[in-house]
Amino acid sequence: MTEAQTNPVLTDHEVRELRTLIEQRSGIVFDESRERFLTSRVVEHMQRKSLRHGMELLRMVRHSNLEYDTMLERLLTQETRFLRYPGLFTAFEQNVLPELSDRKFWEREQSFRFWSAGCASGEEPYSIALSYCESFFGRTRPACQIMATDISREALERADRGVYARRALEHLSPVQMERYFTEEKEHYKVRPVLREMVQFAPMNLAQPVYLGHFDCIFCMNVLIYFGEELRSRLIQRFYEYLVPGGYLFLGHAESVANVPVRFHQTILNGSRLLQKPAAEAATQARAVGGAL
Ligand SMILES: C[S@@+](CC[C@H](N)C(=O)[O-])C[C@H]1O[C@@H](n2cnc3c(N)ncnc32)[C@H](O)[C@@H]1O
Repeated sequence: MTEAQTNPVLTDHEVRELRTLIEQRSGIVFDESRERFLTSRVVEHMQRKSLRHGMELLRMVRHSNLEYDTMLERLLTQETRFLRYPGLFTAFEQNVLPELSDRKFWEREQSFRFWSAGCASGEEPYSIALSYCESFFGRTRPACQIMATDISREALERADRGVYARRALEHLSPVQMERYFTEEKEHYKVRPVLREMVQFAPMNLAQPVYLGHFDCIFCMNVLIYFGEELRSRLIQRFYEYLVPGGYLFLGHAESVANVPVRFHQTILNGSRLLQKPAAEAATQARAVGGAL
């Protein structure tokens, strides 16, 4: 190994510059608790690139989006799995979908639209698709589109392939595995019935693009990485993008506290459901000072 591969030099000042750049471009905050993670991943990245000084890396990532994206890929946390919060997905399948479906019965637009914002390698949007199929099992399923976005192109490539190790599927029943996956050399591939419902696209939530309205938005375990201001801005956007009566699903450590939005909150199966008031209820909520 050369010296450049073993001993890159990264000063505190350079770490601060990188932190600022990453927060400005991608919204991700590396506070003190995550600083060691940041430093060790950046040093590994410099070793791979044979860079000796942090300044060289800074110059590269400031001048090339490709270099910035390559470095960022090393810094993202992409832990996820199918039906990550089983109680939440049961509530989605058995309570939320029947309720939304009943409401749609009276509307012109019968199809569903969902958004998985920060979908990582696809387990979350495919879980939405699976729960949707289970909810309508044995009945005619209305059309359904699931937009699944993430900043990580590498994660989206894995999501697009739709092939998973056994441990990612630990919350699934044998029947669900049989119905929605084919086994290939000790790996499991999502069947077309799920694959065809999901569309993957790159998107940086710090610079979101309007994608239309959704019946449900899942943004789970993503906002925890952002600063207060971006978190608040995104929750307000999600509120706007939801249809009246639509639901927002956050991770267990995330909430809408201190954000000026009026979600109704219910706890079901130990999971928090946040519902945008339906049209007439929204007017009422405004009049009486609202739910949340
Ligand atoms: C811990 S994973 C959560 C995956 C899934 N939502 C779940 O709960 O299982 C966080 C995801 O957020 C993505 N992410 C982080 N910053 C982002 C940004 N600015 N825009 C879009 N996605 C981002 C990461 O790439 C990663 O895939």
